[in-house]
Parts: sequence; structure tokens; C-alpha cells
Amino acid sequence: MKYYIETYGCQMNVSDSELVSSILRTAGHTEVNSIDEADLLLFNTCSVREHAEQRVLGRIANERHRKKHKPELKIILLGCMAQRIGQSLLNENCGIDYVVGVDQYRALPAIINQEPSALIDFDFDEVYEELMPIHSGSRCGFVTIMRGCNNFCSYCIVPYVRGRERSRPYPEILKDIQLAIDNDLKDITLLGQNVNSYQWQDLSFPKLLLKLNDIKGLHRLRFVTSHPKDFSDDLILIMRDCDKVCEHIHLPMQSGDSGILDMMNRGYSYEHYLSRILKLRDAIPEVSITTDLIAGFPGETEAQFESTLSAMREIEFDYAFCFKYSPRSGTAAADSKDQIPEEIRLERLQRMIDLQREITLKKFRAQIGKTVEIYIEDFSKKSMAQLSGKTRDFKIAVVSGNESQIGKMVMAKVVDATAGTLICE
Ligand code: 5AD
Ligand code: SF4
Repeated sequence: MKYYIETYGCQMNVSDSELVSSILRTAGHTEVNSIDEADLLLFNTCSVREHAEQRVLGRIANERHRKKHKPELKIILLGCMAQRIGQSLLNENCGIDYVVGVDQYRALPAIINQEPSALIDFDFDEVYEELMPIHSGSRCGFVTIMRGCNNFCSYCIVPYVRGRERSRPYPEILKDIQLAIDNDLKDITLLGQNVNSYQWQDLSFPKLLLKLNDIKGLHRLRFVTSHPKDFSDDLILIMRDCDKVCEHIHLPMQSGDSGILDMMNRGYSYEHYLSRILKLRDAIPEVSITTDLIAGFPGETEAQFESTLSAMREIEFDYAFCFKYSPRSGTAAADSKDQIPEEIRLERLQRMIDLQREITLKKFRAQIGKTVEIYIEDFSKKSMAQLSGKTRDFKIAVVSGNESQIGKMVMAKVVDATAGTLICE
């Protein structure tokens, strides 16, 4: 059968879609790039915020009409929404034929041969050994090193939909990285909900980086997501000493107020977070730091919100992904009586975005005059005469050049910058 996958949410889902593609291909199915040709329409979904779920439901509502002309067409829901609300969506008859959870993908070829029906038991032990993902066109590789999360931050649905932490065996990770290198992917990101707690036999996360750094043919190594409570001195020193590990860390702060961090069950105070940043900048002065922030968590006062703004000014993140708090049923924070009205959440989100924009512009403009290494990934979106790629410190850069440079590393001088792009020559 011909299948088409649409992926929503985080990098873990992008990586899972590559895995699904590999499973379906091995079973004799063919991926198509046009939805019109597909017999199987797969939606790999995200449940982290309400908005993400609404988008997918809207997409499915838009596509189910295709069944009128093509009765054999099957719509399959994958990922976090499948786990969270798959059963009720099946009951609602909203056009979905199969629901396949995040640890069930191996069974996908068998499932689509069955009559559309109720979902199968979820197995939370899966680490997908012995499977090779198919890299989907991108020049960057993503290798899952662990799945699941044990942290139960009070706002977050992930531990409920993705289960407990499981680390993948080192030999499996090595195989995936080698495959990415063989496919000429020069920028490889290790993925996990909380990579710092990777543990396989006596291999901790810092030791894993140290070993991977020796791989021949590897150019750049990154990892997401780190948890500030587990971001150790040891890891900072290893980041400094491993030449392939890029000078960038994504370290979600969520809030700059210790009281809110406590309510979020994050396991650190703002002072601890700041001490990690200072230590990191001391070890790697040129390191770029990005973060995630939530505006309007239940009970957040104006003063507490302002603590987050002042933390943003104090730290000066290179970039921040800012989110409006979204109650997720089943999480502790969703039951709080102190929900913040939507208009205040929105207004705080906007102030956060405006402030970060100023800081990002300042950080990007500070790069002017420097020479940077750019991994050229594609033509720029604006013009075919321009190429675009990423610096080691995770900034998008554009530079003039030609097609032959795509997939290569180039050195270029930063001559201008916007709040999001370095313009280079
Ligand atoms: N509401 C808003 N943002 C959330 N995130 C996770 N759960 C929620 C929620 N319920 C954000 C966090 C996390 C990022 C991936 O998504 O900032 O780091
Ligand atoms: Fe969610 Fe917290 Fe786990 Fe991240 S660490 S996935 S925010 S529970």
C-alpha cells in the first residue's frame, strides 16, 4: 500500500515517523509525497498543548472526505494523541480507522491488516531495538537514545503518554549514528525527553558523549532535552572537552520564579538554574543557550511573571520558545483552582515574546564581524541564489553560494543579522 505521513510536535515525533516509515517499508509498503496517491494516511501527533491537538483534529476533518471517492483509504492516528484520547476518538467516529500508540509501531503492519477496531494494549517497555530509521530528506540526523520520562512536571502530559524512562542500548545508538554518517548527515542530535538521565549498564550520559565524540566521520553532535536539575558539572566539562559537541544547550527554564518552579515540580530553584548557566558560560564562553518558557501557569502572580521577565534579562537567552500554559487533563496543574484567565495568559505570553525578540536581536547582532562555520542544508526560503544552514551554536545563517555547496560545511563572515537569521558573506 502507499502511505503518507504527516508529523506534528517535537523532534522525537520526527524521529518516530522515520521509524514508522522504516517499519512500513520493510513490510512492503511505499511512501508517497502526495496525499492524493495515498491509501494509508498517517498522522503522528502531539498532545503537549491543546492547540496541537486541535490542529490535527482539524486536519483529519479536512481529509476524511477523501474516503467518499476512495473507500479503501485508511486514516491512522499515531503518537501522543493516540495514547491520550485514541479510544474516545475511535468511539466518536471522526474518520480515524486505527489508533496506534507510541510504543506499538512494530505492530503497525499487522494492525493495518486487521479490521479497523479498538486499540491494542500499550506496551511501555519498547526501545525499538534492531530497527533502522529511514532519514527523511533532512540533512540533520536524529537518534533517539532514550524514551519516556519520570519527572512528572505538574503541567506536562508526556509521562502519561510516553511512559517511564528507558535508555536504548549503546550498540543500537552506535548503529543509528553510523547509518546517519553513512547517509552523509553531518549534524546529529541525540534525542530523549530527559537525556541527562541516560543510563545503560555503567554508561551515563556524559560518558556516552565522550565515547561518541571519537566516532570517525562525525562532524557535529547535539542533544535535547536537558533537565536543569540533572545538568551536572561533569557534563559541562565534557561538553567543553569534546570537539564534536556543539556550543549550544537547550535548557528549559519554564519560569524564573522559584515558587512557580516548585509548583511545577521542576526540582530546582531559579538560583540553581542561574548557577548552571554561569558555570556553563565560564567553561564555554561562546556557548549559546536556548530555553522553553511557560506564561500563565496556575497561580502565577504578576510579580512572579515579572520574575521570569527579569530572569530573561539577566540570562539573555539566544532564543526562547514561549508557550501559553495549556491545561492537560490528568496532570496535577490542570486540577488547580487558580487557573489564570485566558486573556491574561495571552497578554503575558505576548510580553514574553516581545522581550525575547529584543534579546534575540541583540544576541544575533553581537555575532556581526565574526567568522562562523555553517552547515549548508538547503537553498534559502527567500531566494535560490542564497543558501541556508545552521552554525554550530544553532543559529540559522544565510550566505550566497550554489547548489554544489549543499551538504557541505563553509566558513563565512557575519555581516548583518535579524532576530532569527545571521546574514553572512
Ligand atoms: N502548557 C504549555 N506549555 C507546555 N509545555 C509542556 N506542557 C505544557 C503545557 N501544558 C512546554 C514546556 C516544555 C515544552 C516542550 O512544551 O515548556 O519544555
Ligand atoms: Fe514533561 Fe517535565 Fe518530562 Fe520534560 S521533564 S517531558 S516537561 S514531565
